[in-house]
Amino acid sequence: MSIAESIAQVQAQIRAAEAAAGRAPKSATLIAVSKTKPLSAIQEAMAAGQVSFGENYAQELRDKANELEGQQVNGVPLDWHFIGSLQRNKVKYVVNRASLIHGVDSLRLGQAISDRASGQQGILVSVNMGGEGSKSGVPIESALALCKELAVLPGLALRGLMCIPPPEAGNWFQDLAELAAEGRRQGLPLTELSMGMSADFEDAVAHGATLVRVGSRLFGARG
Ligand SMILES: Cc1ncc(COP(=O)(O)O)c(C=O)c1O
Repeated sequence: MSIAESIAQVQAQIRAAEAAAGRAPKSATLIAVSKTKPLSAIQEAMAAGQVSFGENYAQELRDKANELEGQQVNGVPLDWHFIGSLQRNKVKYVVNRASLIHGVDSLRLGQAISDRASGQQGILVSVNMGGEGSKSGVPIESALALCKELAVLPGLALRGLMCIPPPEAGNWFQDLAELAAEGRRQGLPLTELSMGMSADFEDAVAHGATLVRVGSRLFGARG
């Protein structure tokens, strides 16, 4: 299947999952995860109408964003998302290029982004749902406290939460959606939910994902 065909198919599945959940059409956005994929793959996706791309490595995002600077898809500027875990010394590559930095999991990282941001840098707080030591993300118990600290930093626009759920069965998407709802009740601007990948994006949309991050289903397995 071509990249264009895969995008059309995944978009159709997202629309169907939105409808099944009683959600508005296009209330979930497809982020095409293009990490390690060449510019030609991104350009093929752009030709198929894809606007939003996700990258995990800071310099790779910088290089691709620079290469494609100023390009639009149907009149809409390209929209980059940083979805990896970000080291503070690499913040400079991503800030002001990515519309959203998904993996903020500490006040120190938020501060480093805030120091570099020239406008309002969109961020999501990443939550380590399963408490796995090996994964980045803030523990669920302290996520809202971190959100409150980040929400008041200048130059940051806190927009929501993201997670990569553990492999064990669990209601991870529902738990993240409930955490965001609780945050909103407490006055936090947590409107975006970044969850769901190739294997489970429909389930994520059913539970309220506004951003799904899909890589291998669009571009094939990564080498
Ligand atoms: C944070 C994150 N989200 C989404 C993806 C895409 O995963 P998949 O290829 O399973 O769609 C990746 C891939 O590495 C990732 O690191």
